[in-house]
Formats: sequence, C-alpha cells, structure tokens
Amino acid sequence: MEEKLYVGNFMEKKYRIVTYGCQMNVHESEKIAGLLRGMGYTETKEDAEADIVVFNTCCIRENAENHAFGNIGALKKLKRRKPGILIAVGGCMTQEAGKAEVLKEKFPFIDIIFGTLNLEKLPELIERRLKEKKKVVEIREKEGEIVEGEEPFRTSYPNAWVNIMYGCNNFCSYCIVPYVRGRERSRKPEHILSEVKKLVAEGYKEITLLGQNVDSYGSDGSTGMTFAQLLDAVASVEGKFRLRFMTSHPKDFGKDVIDVMEKHRKICRLVHLPVQSGSDRILRAMNRRYTGEKYLSEVEMLKSRFPEAEVTTDIIVGFPGETEEDYLATEALVKKADFASAFTFVYSPRTGTKAAEMEDRVPPEVQKDRIMRLVALVNSLTRKKSERYVGRTAVILCEDYDEKKKMYMGRDEFGRMGYFRSERSRIGEFVTLKITVANGISLFGEPVGEEE
Ligand code: SAH
Ligand code: SF4
Ligand code: F3S
Repeated sequence: MEEKLYVGNFMEKKYRIVTYGCQMNVHESEKIAGLLRGMGYTETKEDAEADIVVFNTCCIRENAENHAFGNIGALKKLKRRKPGILIAVGGCMTQEAGKAEVLKEKFPFIDIIFGTLNLEKLPELIERRLKEKKKVVEIREKEGEIVEGEEPFRTSYPNAWVNIMYGCNNFCSYCIVPYVRGRERSRKPEHILSEVKKLVAEGYKEITLLGQNVDSYGSDGSTGMTFAQLLDAVASVEGKFRLRFMTSHPKDFGKDVIDVMEKHRKICRLVHLPVQSGSDRILRAMNRRYTGEKYLSEVEMLKSRFPEAEVTTDIIVGFPGETEEDYLATEALVKKADFASAFTFVYSPRTGTKAAEMEDRVPPEVQKDRIMRLVALVNSLTRKKSERYVGRTAVILCEDYDEKKKMYMGRDEFGRMGYFRSERSRIGEFVTLKITVANGISLFGEPVGEEE
C-alpha cells in the first residue's frame, strides 16, 4: 500500500504522548509536548485520533520495558489502518546499548527512534521522516551541552517541575540510569532562578527541583554553587509557593541542606531519601557508600530539627546475595526510620550493570515472599501514621477534582493526599482541612479556611 503522510498545515494535527517512569520523564514529556505544539500539533488522549504517538519510555526495571513493548506492539493494527500516523519512541529505553536495534526489529512500523540526550531534535526528526519517507533513528551516545530555552507544555498545575541537573555519576551497581542518562551536568543557577521566578509569577504554587542526585548539584565546579546554596536562592524567590526537591542521596545529604530548610518555611519538611536496603553488606554490594547507621543518623538529624518532618524512601528486595538476615535488617531499619511512605521494588537485573553479573541470584519465590512481607509492613506503618491525622488540621494544596469520589484533592506538605467537598473549584489554592477520616493513606476532611 502506498504510504500517505500528512504534510502541510491544512488540517489540525494531533499528538498523543505515553509516558513511563519517573518525574524526570514526566517533565520531559512536557518538553516533548512543548516541541510538538511549536509545530502546530494539539493534544489528544486517543491513539486513533492522533497524527503522532510518542512513547517516552523507561528501562529502570524489566517490567517497565515490558509495559512499553506491550503498548507499542498494540499500535501495529492502528498503523496498518492509518498509515499516515507517526509512531515515535524516545526515553531511556532507546539509550540502552543495542535497544534501538531491538525496537526496529521487533516493531518495524516505528517511524522515529530518538533518545533522551537529543530530545530537542524531535521536530527536526519528524520533518525528516515526513520528507524522506523512511525510518529515522537518531540516538546521541554521549551527553552534550545542556539545551536551554525550551518551553515545556506544563500539565501538572499547581506544581511545576524544574530540572536542576541531568545524568548521574553514582553507578549504584543495580542501576541503569548512569548508562542511559550520561554523566552529571548541572544547569546554571541563573537559568533555574529565572525559570522559577517566571513560574511563580504565572501562578504556580509548588516548585519541585529535579535531579537524580540533587546533592551533587554543581559538584563539578561549573555553577559556583552547592545544592544547599541553590535551594537557598530558589527559596528566596518572592511569592507564596511550596518548594520540594528530589532525589537526595544519603551519602551526601546533610546539615547544609537542613540549615537552609530551617531558614525558609517554603521548603517542605519532607525529604525523599532512598535507602535501598538496611543491610550494610548489601549496601556495599550496591555501591551506595553509606551504612544503615549513617542513614538513620540523617533521619534523626532531620527529625530532631523539625519534629514534624517526614522521610519517604525507595527499597529494593532480592538483590543478589540478599539473605533472610539481610532482609530482616531492612525490616528493622524501616521500623526505626518511621517512613511516611516507601516505594518498594523487586530487584531486576539490567544488562550492562555490575549487579547483573553477580552470582547468587535470589530465587523469584523468595523475592516474592520478601516483597509481600515488606509491602505489608510499610502499609501498616503508613496507615498508622495517617490515623494520627484524624482530629488535626492539614494544609492541602488543591490540585485536582476526583470524578469518582466527587471531591477535590490535594497534598499536604508531607505528601499525604487529602480529599474534601467544595461547591467551587479550589484548584491552585491552599486549603486548611480538619481531618475527619483516614482511609489507608488517604485523608478526608472539611475545609476550615484558607491558609494565610
Ligand atoms: N536517582 C534516584 C532514583 C533512581 S530510580 C535515586 O538515586 O534513588 C528509582 C528507584 O528505582 C531507585 O531508588 C531504586 O530503588 C529502584 N531501582 C533502580 N534500579 C533498579 C533495579 N535494577 N531493580 C529494582 N529496582 C531498581
Ligand atoms: Fe541510579 Fe544510584 Fe544514580 Fe540513583 S544515584 S540514579 S539509584 S545510579
Ligand atoms: Fe527515570 Fe526510568 Fe529513565 S526511572 S531516568 S525514566 S530509566
């Protein structure tokens, strides 16, 4: 069949973006949307209505990849029915060694493959695909200079994501991120500050600074500022907004950041501090460069400064060589750290990483048993914590309307979800709720006023 491609601007062109993975990717999808809108595309949520479908992939664990594979594969029929539709695949998966080839072979109907390191070239690649009528595969292998001046199309009001750095140098032995995101590079403080000022002036009420390891911001000396200094500068931007940052690394997180948090009430008293394991032996094998004791002392330092402070975390079970004793050390640490919540994962070997070469794999049934026990423990702790909210007030930044519950929802400073009824939209407002019910990790309450 002869291919028909939509050229010219005589008809409205629509894009659909499918995102997997972390906040970094969520924000990069906003950048992709910005680029596509610049080309005259508008958004649709339906594959069938789209002129281009972009998959922004993740490869952190095998199931993230399988998810994307499944969804890309499902478009084969649509592509046959509507050959003019463009299918583009970007994100971390395309940056994996040899993955672009696999994608090409598995899904010959993909039109464009691009990487995280050359995202800004997407419009050019689309034009090339339309002109040359053959598949375009362009991945940049090594990170280049940071590209400034992009206009993301933001979809997370009242929150706005702001990158402060890209890449990672840590090489935790299980993790593929350093291989697919390149070496650390930090944005210049003036670019970050002018972006934040603009966002606050536009009415955004929450700014989240993003980096794989925010504590190493500027550690190459290129910015003239440490992360703590940057945080201080951003928190000094005038206006009412909440400031969050992620992710902190326990090997670097410390007093300088806590001091800045104390200086500015805008900075949420919540730190996402991934611990990964409670066993020092496993932490060493993971190349995390801290011990369980050091980790707990940081949690303690934070909580002794701000009694209300909360910590959230990420935990991996079933890392190669993890014994029952190691696993129990993780449980013990979870109890001591008193996390507000935790993301729990089963270890997934990633080709090219050090851990993938390690022997002594934990059998899947043991991994399954441990993840179930850990999830039960984490859930019981977070539930107990939620119950303590009943009868108290919580300040929620209202972010959405939940159609199912017929309630507005938002989050408090500590990331707890709060739901309430209101006659009018409160999205973008800080609302004080008197909490009447805690159901799992969700809180329900009555608005008792607006925070000054
Ligand atoms: N830069 C952040 C986030 C990394 S990815 C950090 O340093 O923590 C988010 C989480 O995914 C990690 O914290 C880790 O818990 C998990 N993760 C990463 N690689 C994994 C793997 N191979 N198997 C299972 N979980 C993994
Ligand atoms: Fe991965 Fe470790 Fe870097 Fe986080 S700090 S992205 S877990 S290598
Ligand atoms: Fe994020 Fe997944 Fe890439 S977690 S950095 S999108 S591999």
